[in-house]
Amino acid sequence: MTASSGIVNFNPYSRSHLGDPFPVYSALREEAPVHRNERPPFWAVSRFDDVDMVLRHPETFISGAGITLDGFTGLKPMIILMDPPRQGELRRVLQHAFSRGPTAAAETVVRSAAVDLLDAMAGRDVVDLVEAFTGPLPVIVIAELLGVDPGDRAAFKSWSDGIMTTTTGDGGALIENYTRIFDYFEQTVADRRRAPRDDLVSELVAAQVGGVSLSDDEILGFCALLLIAGNETTTNLLGNMAILLARHPEVRAQLVDDPSLVPAAVEETLRFEGPVPTLTRTTACEVELRGRTIPAGEKVLLLLAAANRDPRVFDEGDSFDLHRSSSRQLAFGTGIHYCMGANLARLEARVAFEELLARHPRYRINSDPVQYVNTPSIRGPVELRTALAPSTP
Ligand code: HEM
Repeated sequence: MTASSGIVNFNPYSRSHLGDPFPVYSALREEAPVHRNERPPFWAVSRFDDVDMVLRHPETFISGAGITLDGFTGLKPMIILMDPPRQGELRRVLQHAFSRGPTAAAETVVRSAAVDLLDAMAGRDVVDLVEAFTGPLPVIVIAELLGVDPGDRAAFKSWSDGIMTTTTGDGGALIENYTRIFDYFEQTVADRRRAPRDDLVSELVAAQVGGVSLSDDEILGFCALLLIAGNETTTNLLGNMAILLARHPEVRAQLVDDPSLVPAAVEETLRFEGPVPTLTRTTACEVELRGRTIPAGEKVLLLLAAANRDPRVFDEGDSFDLHRSSSRQLAFGTGIHYCMGANLARLEARVAFEELLARHPRYRINSDPVQYVNTPSIRGPVELRTALAPSTP
């Protein structure tokens, strides 16, 4: 850390930082790529190759002590908070059950959900796009995959939001929201044991590892993980993309003219404003990185958002460019914990913007400044006041 960087400490929870973390990320990446922060205490790693390396060494940089700075380790077993070998065993089960995710049937589910939400906005000039579209869409999709009752979607959304936006200070609310989700799925698991259906919960109930069924706790952990991991992240990808397209009308016009470009815009949004800007690991042993010695048991904050703009990998990484090749970006992580819902999330974003732009090609976002979710582990707008059909182009 050089004094000239001006980043003797940075508070990843502060509102001003969360509003625009990129100047700090960029300074860290260029001047202090392995930075020891004092208050709160952690190491920040920001260059693409280093973040990539850490994620590919799960024996040294473990997830079992939490993947957020607060060190939350879950109330039920979740693979995202586990280390090998159990993480790998359970992941294989989930992969099998989840393999039918992004199929033609899933696309039908996503498209009909998107169309229904847009129909419900018809006739309104101004909406909160988060409340009306980007928030509900992933909940409907994941609820459908899990096989839950449409009448319970609003409750799901609020429990899941409660978990993702709870800061370190509010452990009570966090536990309360988790408990509600677990109570809900406990009942669903019991129902499916009695009468299996064609849904993911039924597959998890039937699944076995080496001839042994999953425990109820492991099934509940899976259900909660899919709900949480699949919901808030995708909502924020959609929200970030809506902002970027409004700020880059020339890019949006290209997508309107040629919707086959939408997947490229999704990839570039993931790189440029991914919804998971940081992940945390804990060192299992002392480790040396770029000449710095990180002792065992320390938190390491991986700045995915900084890595994804690293000029060593991306030319002009701070510009939003539809025509770059972003295939190496780290928005979904990498290595053994690589996001299992990546293709589903891509599908949701593509379909959402195909439908949104077909109806509202010149929407305008009036929230200024945009207020971002209050946590360093998720990036996305809290609300987006949006004029759907501005009178002037
Ligand atoms: C844009 C949307 C999404 C983003 C940016 C995202 C990001 C991530 C990231 C960065 C990880 C790695 C965590 C780590 O290494 O500690 C991860 C893991 C995971 N994601 Fe996603 N995710 C998204 C959507 C989804 C969806 C839709 C689902 C499922 C419905 C999902 C399910 C999972 C699961 C199960 C894991 C844990 C895998 C493991 O630990 O082995 N994600 N996600």
